[in-house]
Amino acid sequence: MTSEDQSPVVVVTGAAGGIGSASVRRLISEGMQVVATDLDVESVRSLSPHHFALDVTDPDDVQDVMGRILNRLGHVDVLVNNAGITGSQQATSAGETPIDEFDRVIAVNVRGPFLCTRSLLPSMIAAGSGQIITIASVAGLIAFPGRCAYTTSKGAALMFARSVAVDYGPLGIRSNAICPGMVETPMTQWRLDQPELRAKVEAMVPIGRVAQPEDVADTVALLASGRMAYANGSAIVIDGGWSSW
Ligand SMILES: NC(=O)c1ccc[n+]([C@@H]2O[C@H](COP(=O)([O-])OP(=O)(O)OC[C@H]3O[C@@H](n4cnc5c(N)ncnc54)[C@H](O)[C@@H]3O)[C@@H](O)[C@H]2O)c1
Repeated sequence: MTSEDQSPVVVVTGAAGGIGSASVRRLISEGMQVVATDLDVESVRSLSPHHFALDVTDPDDVQDVMGRILNRLGHVDVLVNNAGITGSQQATSAGETPIDEFDRVIAVNVRGPFLCTRSLLPSMIAAGSGQIITIASVAGLIAFPGRCAYTTSKGAALMFARSVAVDYGPLGIRSNAICPGMVETPMTQWRLDQPELRAKVEAMVPIGRVAQPEDVADTVALLASGRMAYANGSAIVIDGGWSSW
């Protein structure tokens, strides 16, 4: 059964988190049909009538869930590759990072966007249109000290977005990366809850504050709306000027 509703369909991964949930709310408020997915379906149930449990690192799960979404809604116009992790506090510099921690971060932040994008490309190619939005990070542009796995993964996520832009742009599919600076979410709360660490971060941001999830959701919504129609392979930096130093 497919939906009669012709408004754009957007699939968001990691939708229970700070940036994911703000993006779902913003996209719904702009009239889009949003599919909220995360590891645990209970965490996304209240966000959207369309919700699924999805582990982005599991190829069978990705194939199955994307197939069910296509069956239910008929098409997917936009995929937001948002699920991500920083790794445990052990995942620091290259020599100190446990191998399994490195693999875990790469699996979610790089393999995840690859698997999700790969599973939706055939339907987007058939439609002759589609958009992939990958939430990378300024850590994909400048190395964060002591965060080897995360920095490596975000550089790869950005280049993954660009690879798709180059290969599929001619088929009507655009792919862009958003590179946020420090955003106040469950991922960063432990750091921002410590006044000294928070002050240190804020001192590096020219506009004097960390981002709120809604700052990133704004950019997701702008891209998903189709208004930035010439953007393809772009790294859209949303960091208050942090990486401009
Ligand atoms: N918070 C920041 O400062 C910041 C800055 C730049 C980029 N980002 C990126 O933005 C994205 C969202 O981050 P956030 O700050 O909202 O973090 P968050 O921790 O609030 O949310 C991340 C979500 O991803 C989900 N997730 C983790 N592993 C998953 C998996 N295998 N399959 C599916 N879902 C999984 C988690 O359950 C969680 O809901 C991430 O890719 C992150 O790297 C965050």
